Amino acid sequence: MKLSVIGCGYLGAVHAAAMASIGHEVVGIDVDERKIASLSAGEAPFFEPGLPEILSAGIASGNLRFTTDMAEAQGARVHFIGVGTPQQKDGYAADLTYVNAAVDALLPFLSPGDIVAGKSTVPVGTAAELAPRISDAGAMLVWNPEFLREGFAVQDTIDPDRLVVGVADGEARAADILREVYHPAVAKGTPFIVTDLATAELVKVAANAFLATKISFINAMAEIAEATGADVTQLADAIGHDARIGRKFLGAGIGFGGGCLPKDIRAFAARAEELGRGESVGFLREVDAINLRRRERAVTLVIDALGGNVVGKHVTVLGAAFKPHSDDIRDSPALDVAVRLRGLGAEVTVTDPQAIENARRSHPQLAYVEDRDEALRGADAVVVVTEWDEYRRELSPERAGSLVNARIVVDGRNCLDATAWRNAGWTYYGMGRP
Ligand code: UGA
Repeated sequence: MKLSVIGCGYLGAVHAAAMASIGHEVVGIDVDERKIASLSAGEAPFFEPGLPEILSAGIASGNLRFTTDMAEAQGARVHFIGVGTPQQKDGYAADLTYVNAAVDALLPFLSPGDIVAGKSTVPVGTAAELAPRISDAGAMLVWNPEFLREGFAVQDTIDPDRLVVGVADGEARAADILREVYHPAVAKGTPFIVTDLATAELVKVAANAFLATKISFINAMAEIAEATGADVTQLADAIGHDARIGRKFLGAGIGFGGGCLPKDIRAFAARAEELGRGESVGFLREVDAINLRRRERAVTLVIDALGGNVVGKHVTVLGAAFKPHSDDIRDSPALDVAVRLRGLGAEVTVTDPQAIENARRSHPQLAYVEDRDEALRGADAVVVVTEWDEYRRELSPERAGSLVNARIVVDGRNCLDATAWRNAGWTYYGMGRP
């Protein structure tokens, strides 16, 4: 099927390449010329495992191309909208500028019978507002939220755990076209949920709100554990055995960041206020507050570990990305901790296997070192803030101990083997652990 994908950021670039890889003829469109040049050359503008391979294969097969010219959307049967919906500069609500601009630019090139499939995360009610403009052009709007995780984006797009398609009244046949688009997943029996536009929009924000709540719940337990001498990691293991609770997303530490969870819970709360239902999701403000407090807690642990003052102390920060397998530093708890320590007068050195380039651009005030061991040399304290395998599995406490000035480690992700580090002579501090 001929498809267009409007917006070639994280979501759009992966979607375009993944759709080409399952046999569709795809054009990816974006206003950013540099991004289009890079994608056209088969180069992913960000780090995502597996993406360069399907990008080059798609381009080589002729199934995939990228352009800045919206006119090239003409002739596609389905047009996916995958532009960003960032947090507004002066508030918590989502900024819909890019969604509206994408739809405006696309309208002249729609043909009767086309489908416009919104994938961006939007406040509930957005699709209902866009729908009349799209039906005036003889096309149909569906909402088809995306649940991909960065780091597993290709796999999550080609083989998702569910597909959700919201359709307008009387337009259920639009969902059948989406079934054809996602034929491999549909053929293997992936749950395919057809619903209304509002439910589809809400499924996405509800899923992210639930995940954020789960993380903040365990981080709240970490705070209680800190007050009582309990160990939150053992608590998470124990409650996680209950199949109704589950162990996933009960990783206590410096909390969630990235381009999705933080802004999505804020936008959800803002939308609920507009709907007169602010109190229904009032707990999301707590979820946000708990999450931000944990970053501060990691900083406090470093200060305490260094005897109450970090001025002039060499602190090595292991990690900059908001999570491993990603070079994304948007709202990264890791960088937030680094910046706070530097603000308190510490000499901070940051390293990361993938995110240094992005981190340097956004936080030029920090010192960056590519090589992990080089970064550790002479440290008065080490803080682990992104649980890359390079730190979690591959860094031996003995090796690290031979490089640093003082064996003090703050494990902001509870990802190190505390016993092994203590046995190697380190003073180990976890989050919510004795
Ligand atoms: C999230 C959702 O998981 C995806 O399903 C969704 O499609 C995506 O947002 C989106 O809206 O586009 P992502 O932002 O890639 O995906 O990252 P997650 O894997 O959800 O992790 C988010 C943050 O939570 C990271 O900073 C991670 O370190 C943190 N986290 C995760 C914890 O602190 N503890 C955990 O137990 C799990």
